[in-house]
Amino acid sequence: MNKTKVALVTGAGQGIGKAIAIRLSKDGFAVAVVDFNGETARSTAAQINEAGGQAIALVADVSDRDQVFAAVEETTKTWGDFNVIINNAGIAPTTLIENITPEIVDKVFNINFKGVIWGIQAAVKAFKTLGHGGKIINASSQAGHVGNPELAVYSASKFAVRGLTQTAARDLAGLGITVNAYCPGIVKTPMWDEIDRQVSAAAGQPVGYGTKEFAKNITLGRLSEPEDVAACVAYLAGPDSDYMTGQALLIDGGMVFN
Ligand SMILES: NC(=O)c1ccc[n+]([C@@H]2O[C@H](COP(=O)([O-])OP(=O)(O)OC[C@H]3O[C@@H](n4cnc5c(N)ncnc54)[C@H](O)[C@@H]3O)[C@@H](O)[C@H]2O)c1
Repeated sequence: MNKTKVALVTGAGQGIGKAIAIRLSKDGFAVAVVDFNGETARSTAAQINEAGGQAIALVADVSDRDQVFAAVEETTKTWGDFNVIINNAGIAPTTLIENITPEIVDKVFNINFKGVIWGIQAAVKAFKTLGHGGKIINASSQAGHVGNPELAVYSASKFAVRGLTQTAARDLAGLGITVNAYCPGIVKTPMWDEIDRQVSAAAGQPVGYGTKEFAKNITLGRLSEPEDVAACVAYLAGPDSDYMTGQALLIDGGMVFN
């Protein structure tokens, strides 16, 4: 008998995380939609349930270790299993080198890096309790492969996620756990809409101008839809990637070539 697999996605109230949650539901997963914004988390979960999938909404701040463990435990209790965690939540403030403060370093690393560690630990605990392996999937970025201008702290946090992914892959393989990361390019999310507004306004151009300018640097000539990234994550969450671990897959339309 094919048992429904259970996945948890953080930052799934909007953007890439929402697209991942919806895609994994279409692929047959029961999905825990986790966000610190309860309203958007409930909206994503409702959309999945209305389409005939299985979803619950949970509120958690990924920078809080106890809240992440509680979300994984609640998910496991709801469906009696736990198979995949997507540590997706992240923030991307611009930080000019000379203006970086201790507070902004702490804020970005507490969410983008420590949040991933807590997610990994909570998932490992659940997999061990359930007596099987699982898949851990972390959000890095093309900015985790190449330092991006004006994004020193963000880029560093995404490089850190890539390092963590490699070490966790080696440390956890014996438990039947794979650990991989996905590295998007420029994705049309609420976060990007705001950047487009700012870039366009600064150039005295209408909304959409910034997007066109950025798209020129992408080999495939267009920005990424959240669904492009969700397709990559669906591969990492499914059985076709069983022989892959420790990788950070670029899904950026050809911005970075390794
Ligand atoms: N948009 C891009 O161009 C892009 C490119 C590369 C990588 N990424 C990465 O992909 C991930 C998702 O990005 P996005 O564009 O969808 O962002 P977004 O800002 O549109 O959505 C992020 C979601 O995460 C939630 N979130 C933020 N901090 C949280 C916290 N501490 N705890 C719980 N939830 C929290 C927000 O409420 C929001 O729903 C991030 O890790 C980001 O760094 C995005």
